[in-house]
Amino acid sequence: MPVHVVADTVSKLTGLRAMLEQHYAVTSGLLSDANTPCAESDAVVVTADLRAVENIAALKEMFGKSSHVRKRIFVIDQKARLFTVQAYALGATRVLVNPVNQASLLAELVDSNHSQTVSIETLPGAHEAAATGATALASMFSAVLSGKAIDVRDAKAAGGKIADSIAEDGLSSWLETVRRHHEGTYQHCLLVTGIAVDFGLSLGVPKADVERLYSAAMFHDIGKARIPLAVLDKPGRLDDQERALIETHPAAGYDVLKGNASISPEILDAVRHHHEYLDGSGYPDALCAASISDIVRILTISDIFAALIEHRHYKPTMPREQAYEIIRTMQGKLEGPLVAAFRDVALNR
Ligand SMILES: [Fe+2]
Ligand SMILES: [Fe+2]
Repeated sequence: MPVHVVADTVSKLTGLRAMLEQHYAVTSGLLSDANTPCAESDAVVVTADLRAVENIAALKEMFGKSSHVRKRIFVIDQKARLFTVQAYALGATRVLVNPVNQASLLAELVDSNHSQTVSIETLPGAHEAAATGATALASMFSAVLSGKAIDVRDAKAAGGKIADSIAEDGLSSWLETVRRHHEGTYQHCLLVTGIAVDFGLSLGVPKADVERLYSAAMFHDIGKARIPLAVLDKPGRLDDQERALIETHPAAGYDVLKGNASISPEILDAVRHHHEYLDGSGYPDALCAASISDIVRILTISDIFAALIEHRHYKPTMPREQAYEIIRTMQGKLEGPLVAAFRDVALNR
């Protein structure tokens, strides 16, 4: 597999080439070169200052001409939220933070080789829908951070594309594609959206409810834009203070969206209440069963399942069977008949 390296300075280009040349056929180019082609490459590694408008323009142009490139690894200089968001908005499939070592870079590329041989196919339709979804999520998070208006239409359109992909290619292909090519909160939101859509389809809900489900899922964790990445992506257990901070995200999301005329009351309700449980033990409002809508009940089960089966670098991925068993033991918190109906989604679809 040929790998193409792109950088904004010669020294960065040389550094990355040195890490890859023993293992791959490497081509490279400077971003300032008028025509930086990705030619036959299946993977591109980019390192550039993402504050520079000329770099952003050059990257947009390059990726506009090379949508076939499956693996787009961005190496950025600091783990700042805006750099990460910018990288994903430009089409990154993985973001690594400097100082990056040879082993972690090679691991990303090896992963991309494996994707051609695993048993569950990751189909181009799913890949494209996931990239569109990740870009919409990145621009929503970026809008929240910079105090700009959220593009609701864009997010809903991306949700619709995900729903089409699920209807066409099925859930398993979606889960594999998203877990392999996306990470962190975007991976999570893409998983929840696909699972909620598939759950809705399996229940035979009307088309309008499938639309409500994917919209609610795309927006459900928007409040996490306000939570520092160090807490959000922390490996291992959170302390009490960190947990309390994380638990502010449903109300924060509600606050971000409540003045927006394009967001319906049901979606607003789902964003605020997707961590409520039927027995009143959830947050932020400790609602009880009668106050929790069907859409929220479906979304909550999808959300928990997605969180359990997420791919994280620091731990093995939980098998779907094990995740379903955990959901099954949450008696009293989730609706029994819905949990029973979810079995088919969790294990078979
Ligand atoms: Fe959440
Ligand atoms: Fe969530």
